[in-house]
Amino acid sequence: MWGSLWPLLLSLLTATAVPGPSSRRPSRELDAIPRMTIPYEELSGTRHFKGRVQNYSTLLLEEDSGKLLVGARGALFSLNAEDIGDGTHKEIRWEASPEMQNKCHQKGKNNQTECFNHVRFLQRLNATHLYTCGTHAFQPLCAAIDSEAFTLPATFEEGKEKCPYDPARGFTGLIIDGGLYTATRYEFRSIPDIRRSRHPHSLRTEEAPMHWLNDAEFVFSVLVRESEASPVGDDDKVYYFFTERAAEEGSGSFAQSRSSHRVARVARVCKGDLGGKKILQKKWTSFLKARLICHIPQYETLRGVCHLDAGTSAHTRFYAAFTLTTQWKTLEASAICRYDLAEVQAVFSGPYMEYQDGVRRWSRYDGGVPEPRPGSCITDSLRSRGYNSSRDLPSMVLDFVKLHPLMARPLIPTRGRSLLLKHSVRYTHLTGIPVTTPSGHTYDLLFLGTADGWIHKAVVLGSGMHIIEETQVLREPQSVENLVISPTQHSLYIGTPSGVIQLPLSSCYRYRSCYDCILARDPYCGWDPSICGCVVTTTLANRCQMSRTALIQDIERGNRGCEGSRDTAPPPPLKTRSVLRGDDVLLPCDQPSNLARALWLLNGSMGLNDGQGGYRVGVDGLLVTDTQPEHSGNYGCYAEENGLRTLLALYSLTVRPVTPAPAPQAPAAPGSQLTPDVRLLYVLAIAALGGLCLILASSLLYMACLRGGPRGRRRKYSLGRAGRTGGSAVQLQTVSGQCPGEEDEGDDGEGPGGLEAPPPPPPAELTNGLVALPSRLRRMNGNSYMLLRQSDNGVAAGPCSFAEELSRILEKRKHTQLVEQLDESSV
Ligand SMILES: *[C@@H]1O[C@H](CO)[C@@H](O)[C@H](O)[C@H]1NC(C)=O
Ligand SMILES: *[C@@H]1O[C@H](CO)[C@@H](O)[C@H](O)[C@H]1NC(C)=O
Ligand SMILES: *[C@@H]1O[C@H](CO)[C@@H](O)[C@H](O)[C@H]1NC(C)=O
Ligand SMILES: *[C@@H]1O[C@H](CO)[C@@H](O)[C@H](O)[C@H]1NC(C)=O
Ligand SMILES: *[C@@H]1O[C@H](CO)[C@@H](O)[C@H](O)[C@H]1NC(C)=O
Repeated sequence: MWGSLWPLLLSLLTATAVPGPSSRRPSRELDAIPRMTIPYEELSGTRHFKGRVQNYSTLLLEEDSGKLLVGARGALFSLNAEDIGDGTHKEIRWEASPEMQNKCHQKGKNNQTECFNHVRFLQRLNATHLYTCGTHAFQPLCAAIDSEAFTLPATFEEGKEKCPYDPARGFTGLIIDGGLYTATRYEFRSIPDIRRSRHPHSLRTEEAPMHWLNDAEFVFSVLVRESEASPVGDDDKVYYFFTERAAEEGSGSFAQSRSSHRVARVARVCKGDLGGKKILQKKWTSFLKARLICHIPQYETLRGVCHLDAGTSAHTRFYAAFTLTTQWKTLEASAICRYDLAEVQAVFSGPYMEYQDGVRRWSRYDGGVPEPRPGSCITDSLRSRGYNSSRDLPSMVLDFVKLHPLMARPLIPTRGRSLLLKHSVRYTHLTGIPVTTPSGHTYDLLFLGTADGWIHKAVVLGSGMHIIEETQVLREPQSVENLVISPTQHSLYIGTPSGVIQLPLSSCYRYRSCYDCILARDPYCGWDPSICGCVVTTTLANRCQMSRTALIQDIERGNRGCEGSRDTAPPPPLKTRSVLRGDDVLLPCDQPSNLARALWLLNGSMGLNDGQGGYRVGVDGLLVTDTQPEHSGNYGCYAEENGLRTLLALYSLTVRPVTPAPAPQAPAAPGSQLTPDVRLLYVLAIAALGGLCLILASSLLYMACLRGGPRGRRRKYSLGRAGRTGGSAVQLQTVSGQCPGEEDEGDDGEGPGGLEAPPPPPPAELTNGLVALPSRLRRMNGNSYMLLRQSDNGVAAGPCSFAEELSRILEKRKHTQLVEQLDESSV
């Protein structure tokens, strides 16, 4: 099975990787499982905006005016951030003329995809104007837009210094104090560069005698205000994240792929840089770059970066999403790493690398370093020594800067390892927000967009991450292009090729019980015992302090706090099943959480094991095959998660003897003798079918891996059974699933999980449950649980939907065995 091979392969890769951060860890951590899965059909509270154009990839949120500004292909939009779909939007059509498009096509560019005006840049310029740039059919243009009138100006500015020609190129840009800081590959020749324009001192990177940037693809840039409250009078800095061809690599087994090997980088420049006077004239004097490492350095590609701070730059941290791809491209995974600004600063104050002409390779530079330290910003101590700006720096320093742009130490993630590893997923973008809970703790909440249209919402917990939920926001598998958070609107805006989507930051109401609410570990959700509901913590800001502190949350461990709460509700209604001896019955019980394990108890105490006594335990129900009178009793279905046990469903099963009525079966005498054999045959057939499905499933999985393409809605999770409750000190405890509803009032006599004294049975149901198979089919397998999502039209997903096959066989068998006789209980 590839599922089990994966961790092995990964650890193997990690073991051979140099100089990778150590990552020996339990295999369970090698693939994070989102707790909840919300498919497209179950989405709620979303809003959509879609114009007549494509590629909604540039987003700018203006919280003060409540506007979400969007740059797309051939158009700009101003949307109402409160509800982007309310129809009050403004639009600017900004397209490349047909002549421009023809010229572009003649230059050999694709007139179906590239020869349009893709808006790549949209930022606030000043109080009245926005600034925007578009690729304009390979002739970039920029314009200042009056944000009130929201119309294009009469004149445009030349854009080739500010915007890429190619719409698919990595690009990042900022406006800082009126100056434009852009990084991309410019012009037709595609030279990578970090530039400052629209500024009295325009600057760029150095190209001779060595390129400071090699074939760089830019991902992200951010201004960090390090001057604020700096005791040494430090300057603000702009950080750039990108990938580029590695010049310094080329040792050991990876030497042969040296030319094509790309690495992730972080670079920085000082905002106050004015360039040199004679040397490095109009060039950055503060450019430094360092290697960025996450999980398996040789196989990772940087996809997205976000930065979070809590008001001060001292606590600034970066989160980066990488995809891991092996040479064979058969296995794909994503990793998330965190980097603290303090560590970034330490790397940039560390040793430099130097290119040795003789051996033609980069190695650590151990010689003397001139003063002031090359690449540093102008600080108070430099000013006191007469260096008022970078133009005053000595030639020796600038000459050193020119030849030593690369730092020797790589930037390794906080705590030396990745926060999260997820296989079969390609993250394309991420954003995050620090969320302060009513108790005063702050947690970083990240939203990760995938290449196939899903959003993963995850909370950072110490050295790891917990994926609270995965949400399918696009029906068709399309890439998430951009993500922006509005705390004011409590919304996440998602830029995609086909439109913009507005998603609530939390959907706490989905959690129906106190335990469900805390198991979710969503920092935005807390259980309010006074109203008996899982509520959004931030909306309580206006309420009195008492009710805020009374909210129950346990983000750290996700299982404490509900013990004393009054939500000891009666068990779910008892359902009655009545079957004939020898028949099969399915007791459906859907586990809402992907992290829960199904547990079935008979008569309140006896735990049922899969494959024993005719029981098959699946994540979507219990199958009792070949029922015998001793199978009669009360069945309780529980979810075991994080040390807690929740009652989900209760069944009362009655197995009645087959009345010795003359059956229409012809071979009466040998029939009774044959039955065990027939049964054996069925069991064998089922086993064989299961085996076949396993083979099919693994080969399908393998093929899916080989194709590597989007797999649409299909999600697969396998949960090993071993070590499930490891690490949790909390005792397993049975808790009730529901809060007392209106009709359940006055039922206080029953304790949690009151199996011993079930409420009077409601009218029984006729079927044996097989027709009521949940749409989420999960394989019933003794060793592992696997979820195979069925497509929505009810057609089985692939040839190996075991449960469906099984149900068909059982249905058939039922018809042959059952005489036309209704259950008494159903009459
Ligand atoms: C624009 O969207 C289309 C799909 O609608 C996609 O194929 C194409 O790659 C996108 N182009 C860019 C530059 O994102
Ligand atoms: C692209 O160019 C081809 C060949 O010149 C032409 O036939 C086609 O109509 C053009 N498509 C668009 C969308 O302009
Ligand atoms: C903002 O910039 C635009 C374009 O450069 C300029 O016309 C306008 O006067 C500026 N507005 C203010 C308030 O500075
Ligand atoms: C730096 O600025 C100070 C005060 O403005 C001035 O006295 C000094 O001459 C300047 N030094 C240089 C090298 O320009
Ligand atoms: C469970 O209880 C039912 C009746 O309450 C009884 O008939 C059955 O034998 C019991 N089963 C076991 C395994 O104890």
